[in-house]
Amino acid sequence: MPYRSIVVLTGAGISAESGIQTFRTADGLWENHRIEEVATPEGFAANPVLVHQFYNQRRQQLLSPDIRPNAAHQALARLEHALSLIEGSEFLLVTQNVDNLHERSGSRQLVHMHGELLKMRCMETNLCFDIRHDLGLDDCCRCCRQPGNLRPHIVWFGEMPLDMFRIEKALARCDLFVSIGTSGNVYPAAGFYQLASNAGARTVELNLDETGSSFDEHRYGPASQLVPAFVSELLT
Ligand code: APR
Repeated sequence: MPYRSIVVLTGAGISAESGIQTFRTADGLWENHRIEEVATPEGFAANPVLVHQFYNQRRQQLLSPDIRPNAAHQALARLEHALSLIEGSEFLLVTQNVDNLHERSGSRQLVHMHGELLKMRCMETNLCFDIRHDLGLDDCCRCCRQPGNLRPHIVWFGEMPLDMFRIEKALARCDLFVSIGTSGNVYPAAGFYQLASNAGARTVELNLDETGSSFDEHRYGPASQLVPAFVSELLT
């Protein structure tokens, strides 16, 4: 293994072959919904029922038996496990996805920078709780016991992504940065490859389509094929 410290960034494209819609394609999530209505704090304040409905649907879809991790998620868990056996090596998987397919594959060094569908948060105390049912305005949270204080634990546009300190620390130390299945439209994630490159890391993009970002290496195709092949190369 030529690398000691690896950071992987994933986006919606890695979960596309598991049956979860991406955002920015014809028929993608943002083609069919107005971002301002369902993915901003202002949208939630204006129409919380609509926003709850939107994330309840996403959550129910994620919990359906048809949605399972694919070979790309599994390959990243394999990579993490292999690195954990090499003394002194480091690995961090940063996902923009709010699904739980990475953890279901066995990934543990994982940051959900845009939140998680299977968590809700109390707006009064900021405490998070697991959730698998639909969330509504009448739900009372376990901490403040008030109705209407719970929101999806999702980072909306205009809000600060989660765990940035841990992510930036890992980017500053990594010698390989791999971006998988993300269009590179949303910052700060879209700028991670620059930070890694500035730190001296090799940068690789694995994506279905060209994104226009200048990584050291680009490979195009479906994640379920590209990622296992790339991980196998790293491990042999
Ligand atoms: N394999 C690899 N890449 C794929 C696949 C696939 N099977 N299918 C689609 N892709 C690629 C698309 O070509 C596209 O470049 O995945 C990318 C998905 O891009 P987006 O839909 O923009 O999703 P993402 O980059 O994750 O969005 C970032 O934007 O809306 C916000 O918070 C939301 O986390 C999300 C963020």
